[in-house]
Amino acid sequence: MDNFTNQQKMHGVWNSRWTFILAATGSAVGLGNIWKFPYITGENGGGAFVLVYLLCIAVIGIPIMVAEVLIGRRGRMSPINSMKFVTNEAGRHGAWTLIGWGGVIAGLFIMAFYSVVAGWSLHHVIETASGGFTGIAGEEAGAKFGGFLANKESVIAWHTVFSLMTFGVVAAGVTKGLSVVARILMPFLFVALAILLVYAVVKGDIAQGFAFLFDFKFDKLTGKGVLVALGHAFFTLSLGMGAIMAYGAYMPAHANVAGTVITIGILDTLVALIAGLCIFPIVFANGLEAASGPGLMFISLPVAFGNMPFGLLFGTLFFVLIVVAAWSSAVSLIEPGVAWVTELGKFNRTISTAILTFLAWLGGMACIYSNNWEGDPEKESQFHVFEGLDFITSQLMLPLGGMFIAIFAGWLMNKTVVAKELDAEGHPMFEIWRFLVRYISPTLVALVMVITLYKTFTAA
Ligand code: PHE
Repeated sequence: MDNFTNQQKMHGVWNSRWTFILAATGSAVGLGNIWKFPYITGENGGGAFVLVYLLCIAVIGIPIMVAEVLIGRRGRMSPINSMKFVTNEAGRHGAWTLIGWGGVIAGLFIMAFYSVVAGWSLHHVIETASGGFTGIAGEEAGAKFGGFLANKESVIAWHTVFSLMTFGVVAAGVTKGLSVVARILMPFLFVALAILLVYAVVKGDIAQGFAFLFDFKFDKLTGKGVLVALGHAFFTLSLGMGAIMAYGAYMPAHANVAGTVITIGILDTLVALIAGLCIFPIVFANGLEAASGPGLMFISLPVAFGNMPFGLLFGTLFFVLIVVAAWSSAVSLIEPGVAWVTELGKFNRTISTAILTFLAWLGGMACIYSNNWEGDPEKESQFHVFEGLDFITSQLMLPLGGMFIAIFAGWLMNKTVVAKELDAEGHPMFEIWRFLVRYISPTLVALVMVITLYKTFTAA
């Protein structure tokens, strides 16, 4: 049996190219676009940061995404076993399989803090819908969010609800779970975002919001900002950890990979920019701070919506949107691990999903118990799992994983096999892609990482 038939039996296949696009976009569009992108843009001064981020998406992200889909399609298995297959096929050292292992671990690490933040969003859906933020002032909203975070039982409960939601979809499988979610939730997400954009244009300070995102003030950009932008390009496109590799493995036999990947990259970027264009005008119209960090979405926005006409309705819609985006990403965070455990042949998919969900849930508990959200000076020096996992994954594991994937696809795989698998024999775009993935993407990742990490550690 060839890889394709084998795998079709084990995991299932997207029923069309569009299902793959929606599922991969569902993975890409998440808290990264709606929660993280606006606040890191705020912290790093706006425009110039956005420009660097866009460049990273185009010359590093998209080529690496093609490489991930390529390896997934070739191997047709979980990232660990797909890496094993392509490594054997190319006659390379077994250590390259570590890319797959690193991915499964990075997925669990990300899911740990991701599910906690998604839990906060679930809480905000209920709070906004029940009028808890109506007429609220800035300080009051800060205190309220602080009060919620301090109440560990409640944070744990919402984290658990979100973990169970993720479990439900992944356990249902590729065809009945992931595909269904992608086909229903993604269109909803696009419509909700369009409605919110109209609302921001009508009720917010769109001129100031626009200027903040697109005025390229280079004096505001630091070296660290460049690493953050690079790391975020990987995070937002779900790259460097095998999520896209796993999804690529479920692709139909023939598909235009380059066109598909570019569509996903454009959709993801549009969602991030539109989310910024929804959030900043509303923040500015209410005289709030753009650079208020991770709390931007959970403190500033409730204040804004709480004091605007129809805020209850649109505020609720906004938080539902975030939950939906987070949900369709979370499933792809544990899918690589779930696929691998299933392939071991000892457990069925439900049990495999339960194992992975439980491990990530434990990681989330570590985030909740080691945090210092209340700003306690005694906890100042303690290790905070939440921030630690975010840093280790976004700024180290994903860029490194992506760099090795690029090197493997560009230098170590057989060129003819690669061209055939991408359905791109003799296409000029193929040569451009190959050049980027061989020379440009890995070099830029290595340069940015070496320079900024050196600076960080020598400054500390
Ligand atoms: N891309 C997702 C987001 O932007 C996060 C993610 C990262 C999902 C890595 C899967 C893999 O929120």
